[in-house]
Amino acid sequence: MKRILTGVKPTGNGMHLGNYLGMYKPFVEQVHGQEWFLFLPDFHSLTSVHDAEVMLRNKHRLAAELLALMPEDSPFTIFEQSKMSHINDITWILSSVTPYSLMLRAHSFKDSQNKNADINMAVFNYPILMAADIIGYDVDLVPVGKDQKQHLEFTRDIAGNFNRSYWVEFFKLPDAYIKEELALVPGLDGRKMSKSYDNFIGVFDDEKTLKKRVMSIVTDDTPLEAPKDPDSCNVYALMKFFASPERLEIIAQKYRAGWYGYGHAKLELLAILLEYFAPAREKYQTYMADYSLVEAALEKWNVLANKIHSQKYEELKKIVGL
Ligand code: TRP
Repeated sequence: MKRILTGVKPTGNGMHLGNYLGMYKPFVEQVHGQEWFLFLPDFHSLTSVHDAEVMLRNKHRLAAELLALMPEDSPFTIFEQSKMSHINDITWILSSVTPYSLMLRAHSFKDSQNKNADINMAVFNYPILMAADIIGYDVDLVPVGKDQKQHLEFTRDIAGNFNRSYWVEFFKLPDAYIKEELALVPGLDGRKMSKSYDNFIGVFDDEKTLKKRVMSIVTDDTPLEAPKDPDSCNVYALMKFFASPERLEIIAQKYRAGWYGYGHAKLELLAILLEYFAPAREKYQTYMADYSLVEAALEKWNVLANKIHSQKYEELKKIVGL
């Protein structure tokens, strides 16, 4: 059994179909038989969000979303980074063996430096905190997007530096699991669905917003009566991820027969999405209406994760002489 861990940073926009299909669904399908930790890196969010209300709103929303989508029998543990008693203690100890010259090479720091005149120290230290997230739990595997590849290399460097400095085999060097894009999920304008293009469809948006978004999917100007090719249509491309093969076949026939307009197709996609996500959307509503339900679920996992992490810290203190 492998121990797998990944951090999901709240963006504030909520999960969209691209995140769901690209990250969440493949992971949920692979977790069985593994020990799986998913956590909310709220200290990392703090490097860029400086408004308490926004911080809390973003975190609540993401926690409710993750819980709502989680299958009943899932072996996930979902916890909050800031509830770990010694996360910053471990970060400090790791900082003490991490060369400044290594940190200067971090892409995330260089990018921020290019954009802003003055960046905060936490942005600079971000990769060390991330290392403490990972190696503090003896993690084997870390599934991340391509943009996090260097952070994982840093984590291995930092862990290796520590082990060499103290002549120990204390921290396990984790492997990154970089997922290649499985399927291209088209956004409203046909480009890859992404927050930065503002072409996304939110999984948990209210029905009105969902409808507005779906109706604005870009299609060509083939007239209503003309036969259409489902395989060159963005609407059909999205249906493919969520409808049964039988239902898709019937829809494809309607496209080819003519008198089936893109407006009809969009309404059909909307119905498909609402049906597919109905149980999760309902749970999400319940969680958002009473956040104490989410807190109760997180609380038991926070305790569990904190126990593992704090134990590692106790051993770490002995090694460094604290
Ligand atoms: N840096 C990651 C991101 O921006 C989030 C993150 C923080 C993370 N700690 C982690 C991911 C540990 C994996 C493991 O998405």
